[in-house]
Amino acid sequence: MKQITVSAPGKLMLLGEHAVVYGYPCIVAAVNKYLTVTISRSCRGKDRINALEVADFSFVKESLKVFRHEFSIKDFFSLRIKSELGNFGLGTSSAVTVATLKALAEFNHLNLDKKELFNLSYKVIQNVQRLGSGFDLATSIWGGTIYFEGKTKKVESLHQKFLPIMAFFSGQKVKTIEMVEKVAQLKKRNSKFVEDIFRKIAKLVEEGRDTVEGCDWVTLGKLMTQNHLFLTQLQVSTPKLDQLVETAIKAGAYGAKLSGAGGGDCMIALVSRKNKKKVTSAIEKVGGKIIDVATNAQGLRIEL
Ligand code: MEV
Repeated sequence: MKQITVSAPGKLMLLGEHAVVYGYPCIVAAVNKYLTVTISRSCRGKDRINALEVADFSFVKESLKVFRHEFSIKDFFSLRIKSELGNFGLGTSSAVTVATLKALAEFNHLNLDKKELFNLSYKVIQNVQRLGSGFDLATSIWGGTIYFEGKTKKVESLHQKFLPIMAFFSGQKVKTIEMVEKVAQLKKRNSKFVEDIFRKIAKLVEEGRDTVEGCDWVTLGKLMTQNHLFLTQLQVSTPKLDQLVETAIKAGAYGAKLSGAGGGDCMIALVSRKNKKKVTSAIEKVGGKIIDVATNAQGLRIEL
C-alpha cells in the first residue's frame, strides 16, 4: 500500500511573540521534537484520522478541506499522526498543519516549495483561528533559527549552530487564541500603550538578531528578560511564569522569558553549561518541569 510520511518540528519563540501578530518581526528556533503524519488512501468513502496524541483535529480537517479545494482532489485519505511535542505549547497546531499538507502534496505528486506550503498552511490557520502570525508554520517548514517578519511573512535563516536554551513547563495551559484575543482587547482599550510596547519589542528583536548570530549570550539573555517584562505589561504572563523567570535568573541564567502566547505553557532560559544543573534544580524546587529539547533542529522532512 502506498503511503507517505512527513515530520515537522516544534518551536520555541526566542523574542517577539504577540508583536509579530501585528506585523513586527520575531526570532524563533525549531526544536528537535517532531510531529509525524503518515498518509495513505482511504477506501471507506471518508477520511480517517488516527491521532491519539493530538487533542484537536480542527487543523487536520481544515488542511484536508483546503488541500482538496485548492487542487480539486476528490479522494479520501487515512492519516496516522504521532507526536513528540506533548502539551507544552511547542506548536502542535502548526506542525500538524504543515506536515499534513506536505504529506498530501507528496502523496498526490505535487511539488510544493517552502513558500507555497507556507501560504497554503497560513490559509488553514486563518480559517481555523482567524488570528495568528504564521511564524510557527515558517519554523516548522524552514527549521533552524529564523528571523520572521510578521508583515511580509519573509523568512531569513540565521547562522546559528548552538543556542544554550533550556525550556520548562509552567504547569498551566491556555489556548493561544485566548491570549491573542486578550492582547487585542487591551489594544482596543489602550492602543498607544500597546503599540509602544510592540515597537520596543521589535527593537529587542533587531538587537537579538546580531546577538544570536554572534553567540553573545550575555546580551541575548538581557534582551530575553526585557522581552519578558514587556510581555508582563501586555498582561500575558502569570505569577507562575514570573516566578520561573526570576528563579532561573537568580540561579545563574543569562536571561529568561515566557515563550509563546503566555497564560502558561513554557518558560525558556539561556543558560551556560556550567549553570545548567543549578538552574534545573532551582526551577524544579518551585514546580517547573524541564522539557527535554534542543534547538537547531532540521525543518520539515519526508521520511523514506
Ligand atoms: C504564540 O506562540 C505566539 C503569538 O505571537 C501568536 C502568533 O504569532 O501567531 C502569541
